[in-house]
This record gives sequence, structure tokens and C-alpha cells, in this order.
Amino acid sequence: MKAQNSAPKVRAAEDGLALTPPMGWYPWNEFGQDPQNEKLIKEIADALIRSGMKDAGYVYVGPDEGRCFSRGADGKLTPNLAGYPSGLRGLGDYVHQRGLKYALYTDAGTHTCSNAMPGTKDHEFEDMAAFARWRADYVKIDWCNTKGQDPAQSYSKLGKAQLAAGRPIVFSLCSWGEGEPWKWAASVGHLWRTTGDICAPGKADWSAAMRNTAANEKLSAAAGPGHWNDPDMLITGMDGLSETQNRSFFSLWCMMAAPLMAGNDLRKMTASTIEILTNREAIAINQDPLGIQGHIVRREGQAEIWAGKPLFDGSQAVLIFNSGAAPAQAHVTWSDIGSGESAPLYVRNLWTHQTTGPLRGGITATVPPTDVVLLRISKSNAFPVPPIIVADSYWLSFRAPGPQPQKLTGAITVKTTGSDELPLWKVRPGLPSWLTVSVTKHGKSQTLASTVSTAGLAKGRYHAVVRADNIEPISQRPMSALYYDVDLEVGGNGEARN
Ligand code: GLA
Repeated sequence: MKAQNSAPKVRAAEDGLALTPPMGWYPWNEFGQDPQNEKLIKEIADALIRSGMKDAGYVYVGPDEGRCFSRGADGKLTPNLAGYPSGLRGLGDYVHQRGLKYALYTDAGTHTCSNAMPGTKDHEFEDMAAFARWRADYVKIDWCNTKGQDPAQSYSKLGKAQLAAGRPIVFSLCSWGEGEPWKWAASVGHLWRTTGDICAPGKADWSAAMRNTAANEKLSAAAGPGHWNDPDMLITGMDGLSETQNRSFFSLWCMMAAPLMAGNDLRKMTASTIEILTNREAIAINQDPLGIQGHIVRREGQAEIWAGKPLFDGSQAVLIFNSGAAPAQAHVTWSDIGSGESAPLYVRNLWTHQTTGPLRGGITATVPPTDVVLLRISKSNAFPVPPIIVADSYWLSFRAPGPQPQKLTGAITVKTTGSDELPLWKVRPGLPSWLTVSVTKHGKSQTLASTVSTAGLAKGRYHAVVRADNIEPISQRPMSALYYDVDLEVGGNGEARN
């Protein structure tokens, strides 16, 4: 008899994408629609690198609802060259050359929210093919102008259209919780909004952030590697939040294994905002390979005690959040994290970066109003940080002008800023015959050298996406797959494409 398998299929099990919550930047929270254009996105991409955010793991970047394209009479999407003079492919190339990944936006309905751009309704397959041609790595699909549509059906069709387009892509569903995507979307995409918008563009809204936190907290069971609850983009560093609120907000998003898509203006950040957004010890909680979403285990007055987040090395994350207006005292007991009271445990404070212990029984903390104490508790005092992958480029482009056979080589370098070295990246077999990739390792850095050989190739353009896989050495869990593009032009003139 055939075994019955009723477990839902997880899309990420095949594409290996977003096995930890996606990190990056999206423009909407700070800018809204009209300031978005190519110049802004390029300046933000540069700021991601300059500020150290790229090294901390923020990688996806691109326009949200930013007047990017229109639909021509032939039904095809055309980039808006006034706002994006390099074209949408050109902007993607800029992003990829810098070791970042390219994010784009569209809508499941007839139009995007302000009606400024066409939605994908009845154009799902051709639009997702256009996104693939533009080399998007991440697509957020909104839910405006969807009268009469069913979220599960519409988003499933879009997911199929992405697979048909043949480019690995992180799929971010944005129905604001409509249709309860946490019940079905793991097989369709990689993350789904659980709530309405966290703010109106330009101004952080603490009470909306608390509303989103409360709704998202209840859904912890639905999250896991490759399928995440998304309580919306970050408001850290925006006008309207105090320093303690910035720190608390970021800690809550880390504890909830929420996507970390920054939403502030990265070109002008205070030192405090940079410190919060790039706190590797907090990010380690968010990017933990087990991918467990923490939740509230207890309340003591205005203090919430968040736990239920075991980490890859056997340690546990704990957050004490004081949601009130007066200082609060809270006691975390070892039973809150499933340990015996007599166990000697080390406690690492992830904001002061100090370790105490070994302690028995528990720990008491006094927390200022709207502030947090974010802890990692462990039998050992090692506190390793899981791998954060940083690449110098995700794009190699070769040109062989003449007909004589040629071999050309280029390389991308990938390092981890986590505690451990990684085993060698394993390149997926099945590359086209003109391409070979070899991997070498130098401590925490690895080079993926790509050699193209033009022998026997006709004049024309060739393209391949290389996939490499790895395993996180402490937990032995699979890491998000690494993908990069290789282009080869034989006998052409190297003209740009859009
Ligand atoms: C919706 C989404 C936002 C943003 C805007 C764009 O409100 O939830 O994140 O994309 O649309 O109009």
C-alpha cells in the first residue's frame, strides 16, 4: 500500500531559498511612492554597503510601489525609463555587481494600490517571466484591487508562474493576513504578511507596531525555515521612535524570526540606528538555522517574557519586553526555557555584550519603559554566531568578441561573517556544457571560479544560474542556497539590455 503523505509541501524545500528570514531594505515605510527611482535605489544599495549592513546580512534591495513599469498595448510590461533610465534589468545588474540581491514589487490584482502600476491579474505568467528577465531575486506581491479574488488561488497561480519563469525567486505574499496565508502559503512562497501596514510612509507608529507584534506573536507555530510570518518591514531608525523603542522593536522582530527588511533612509542614519540594525548577536537570534519563532510564555505586570526559541547550538533566546510606561522588574526562571532550576547556565546580554554566570535558578532584570533585555542562555559560554553570507558579487559577465575558441575565467568570493568556517560550497550539477565552476576555500572565504569556454558555440548570448549548497556545521541544517548569474556573449557588441 502506498504511504499517505498529508504534510504540506514547502516550496523552499526545493529552491533552498530564505531558509533563514530574508534581510534587506524596501523603500515604502520611509519614502512612499514618488521619491522612488533608480537614483534612490542605487544610493541605498551603496549605503547598505558603506554602513556595514551588507556585512551584517542585509542583501535584498529594490523598489516597492515606485512607478517602475507600465503595460503596453501588446500586454507586455515596459520599464519606466524616465524613473529608471538603466531599465529594470540594468538596475538589477547594478545591485548584483555589488553582491546584493534584487527585489521588485507588483500586485495580485488589476493595479497596484495607488493605481500607478498594472497588477498581474490575468497576466501572471508573462509578468513573472518579465521579472525573471529583469533578474529579480525577490518579489513582493501586494493585494490591492483584488475584488472577487481569492488569496490562496491568486497567489498559487503567481507561484506557479514564477516556477514556470525558471528563475529562483523569493516570493513575499502581501495580503496583510487576508485569507490566512499562514495556513497554506508555505507551499506557494517564502513569507507572507500577517498584518496591515506598520505605518504610513515617513513616520514610525509605535502603536501600529505593537498591534502587528500582538497579531504576529500568535502565529509562531506557522513559521520555519523557508516559510515565515511577516509582521511588515522595519521602522527602526525612522522618525517617531525613541532609542529604546528602536531597540525593542528590533529585538521583537529578531525574537519572532521576522524578515528584517529595513525601512529607514540608510543614507542618513545615526550611530545608534546603525548599531541596532547591525547588532550581530541580535541578528544571530533572527538568522538562527533552526528558524523557530519565539512567543510570549508569561507576563509579569507590564513585562512580557518571550521564549520558546531554542537556537542552533543548544542555547535559548529570551526577551524581556517592558511594554509599559514605568520601569518593570521581571524574573526569568530556568523552567521558562525548559531547564532544571539547578542547571548552571551562562547568560549573555545581547545589547550590552556581557556574559554572566554560571547561574542557577534564573535571573532578574529591571527594564526601563518600552525597553528590552535580550538574552541568550546556554550551558556553555561560547555563544557562536551562525553563518551570515556576504558575497563580493552575484554576477559574472563575459564577452568573447571573435569567433576563435576562448576560455575566460571570473570568480565571485563568498565569506561568512559567522563564528565558524563553512565546508566547501557544493555546486549543483547540471550546468550548461560551456560553463564549469570550481570552489576553493581560504578560511571563512571561498572562491567560486567560473570558466566559460566558447569552443563550438555559435554567435549569441548565453546565460546560466549557478546554484551552490552548504550545511551549517554546528546544527548540520541546510543553509539557504547560493545563486549567481553567469552571462556569456559570443561575437556580439556588448550592448546593454533592459
Ligand atoms: C500596501 C503594502 C505596503 C506597500 C504599499 C504600496 O499597503 O502593504 O507594504 O507595498 O501597499 O502601495
